[in-house]
Amino acid sequence: MSAVIIDGFKIASDVRHLVAEKTAALVKSGVYPCLAVVLVGENPASVSYVTGKEKALAEVGMKDRSIRLPESTTETELLKIIEELNEDSSVHGILVQLPLPKHIDENKVIMAIKPEKDVDGFHPINVGNLVIGRKSFLPCTPHGIIVLLKIMGIKTDGAHAVVVGRSNIVGKPVSLLLARRETNATVTICHTGTKDLASITRQADILVAAVGKPKVITADMVKAGAAVIDVGVNRIPDDTKKSGFSLVGDVDFENVKEIASYITPVPKGVGPMTIAMLMQNVLEAATQWQS
Ligand code: GUN
Repeated sequence: MSAVIIDGFKIASDVRHLVAEKTAALVKSGVYPCLAVVLVGENPASVSYVTGKEKALAEVGMKDRSIRLPESTTETELLKIIEELNEDSSVHGILVQLPLPKHIDENKVIMAIKPEKDVDGFHPINVGNLVIGRKSFLPCTPHGIIVLLKIMGIKTDGAHAVVVGRSNIVGKPVSLLLARRETNATVTICHTGTKDLASITRQADILVAAVGKPKVITADMVKAGAAVIDVGVNRIPDDTKKSGFSLVGDVDFENVKEIASYITPVPKGVGPMTIAMLMQNVLEAATQWQS
């Protein structure tokens, strides 16, 4: 039997509606949630992500302080802008779209953002709080994955979750969230050093693919009945599309869906959840301001 296709677009839209209601109440009380979205350069994928975030802000009724900077922006210039945003009390959240141009030290930039405005959850203070189980901004994609699993009723307690990828943005934090007491999965993290990857992924009740390479998770790597979460967004050339490319995940969707019990599509799977959880974090950041 073919897998249930998880409608991340619909679930994200429900989350955004809830956020919009709470935002309206906050605005009535005099606080207008505002996110500063900083983009350096014109990487087409980053431009598209940032545009999506700006559209979502408008949709949930939040303010958007959009800052587009040329590729030639220096690290010092970017740090100065972050400093100004840190001090601006009308800005509740700061998001610097990654990756940054090679001449800018990403870690320096992340560390420059005030932890209480770090709605990406990338600052070491927020990462550290996540590790030790204290309240923090949760990184948006990993949090979105946990919400998808919960809403779909996919059992995590006692499940073996295999995460392929160890990035700071997805692989590491989603592994931590899956292993938290309230989620209670047993987690294996696979990466480029993993030997016989397929023998491990085949043990997964929940398989999270965050590799960044098109269709590397094939049907022979998946256990029958597994829930498969595809975080990949890869552009592959496609002459039949006006844009000249199509988006595919890290999972060979067409074949894996015949084996899995649940699967997220690309697009309209995990991607929209990332944006919805970002909106939730901005709301939380602005709510802190109220008290
Ligand atoms: N680049 C890819 N994903 C993300 C994200 O969630 N936040 C930021 N700031 N940059 C990204």
